[in-house]
Amino acid sequence: MIETDFIPDTLNLDKDHGIVQYTSPSNIALIKYWGKLENQIPANPSISFTLNACSTTTKIEYVKLGKKASDFSFDLYFEGLPKEEFKPKITTFFKRIITYMPFLLEYRLSIHTSNTFPHSSGIASSASGMSALALCLMEMERSFTKNMTDDYFDRKASFLSRLGSGSACRSINGPLVQWGKSNFIESSSDLYGIPFPYDVHPIFNNFHDTILLVDKGEKQVSSTVGHDLMHGHPFAANRFKQADDNLGKIIGVLESGNIKEFINIVESEALTLHAMMMTSNPYFILMKPNTLSIINAIWEFRETSKTHVCFTLDAGANVHVLYPENEKDKVFSFIKEKLVPFCQNGQYICDQIGQGAKKK
Ligand code: DP6
Repeated sequence: MIETDFIPDTLNLDKDHGIVQYTSPSNIALIKYWGKLENQIPANPSISFTLNACSTTTKIEYVKLGKKASDFSFDLYFEGLPKEEFKPKITTFFKRIITYMPFLLEYRLSIHTSNTFPHSSGIASSASGMSALALCLMEMERSFTKNMTDDYFDRKASFLSRLGSGSACRSINGPLVQWGKSNFIESSSDLYGIPFPYDVHPIFNNFHDTILLVDKGEKQVSSTVGHDLMHGHPFAANRFKQADDNLGKIIGVLESGNIKEFINIVESEALTLHAMMMTSNPYFILMKPNTLSIINAIWEFRETSKTHVCFTLDAGANVHVLYPENEKDKVFSFIKEKLVPFCQNGQYICDQIGQGAKKK
């Protein structure tokens, strides 16, 4: 599909008010998206586990305006309270998607949103937040359209989410979502995420992700700035090729259940992401001393316990600890005893691979 396929032909805007509501999860990338071109086109393909517990619920109440407005008209409530500081980001999003959602200028929206995870946890809310919003807008569009297929609904929801925040396009479906054109996956696209189209070994069923909150402070460098620093980065071309090669490898690993190779790819991707940050100009470090202490403790425990626990990182200091269902008791005891002491105020979140967004 191409961009113009997402411009609706005929909409019936007779409906003068309504309510839509969606819950959408966060996701954690196994192969990382880092670097983008114009219009939120990724510089390399990525793949992620959809999460379950970390999610955003968004409700939109919409009322038809007397006539088409020249600007967007909306209120925003975060956890029940008006939140003016989130409005510019949403206005930017609406501007990016207006061609695909022309009805946005015909309605006044009241947007109510909340997260399951604490706002100041250092957990990025853009993936769950932008996808929940995009899904609500798609539900509005569905009510103005005849016979929209579920496939089109999901694809356009992912397409719109991407325009809000790249990684958000991987939150619509589950349990594994791939985004970004690659010769390894014929149906892959730079425009939207797709459910991973190949077989997945049962070892990855109910895979666990315990998120260790190492540092809850505001990041010194935002993802947007970080992505931008990949332009002119001395290692960019090799990195983008490596991500695609790793996608090729992980397809086979997910199918065969070769967990040792899985660990190797996932940990290497996490460290490469941070290596790109450390070798940007200006350079920066988002890991904290406790991030490294956790990584070293995981390596030591994996060696002695012969379990298959591994880590990944997003663009911050927090550590995602990944492990299979059949090792959960042993690994979770280790996490509580040895890793939680490195968390800020002992805080962590128990999450697991999930099935994607849900209508409420
Ligand atoms: C490190 O999706 O937050 O988490 O498109 O600018 O909103 P924008 O960036 P964002 O970048 C996330 C990068 C990452 C890796 C990943 O999720 O693939």
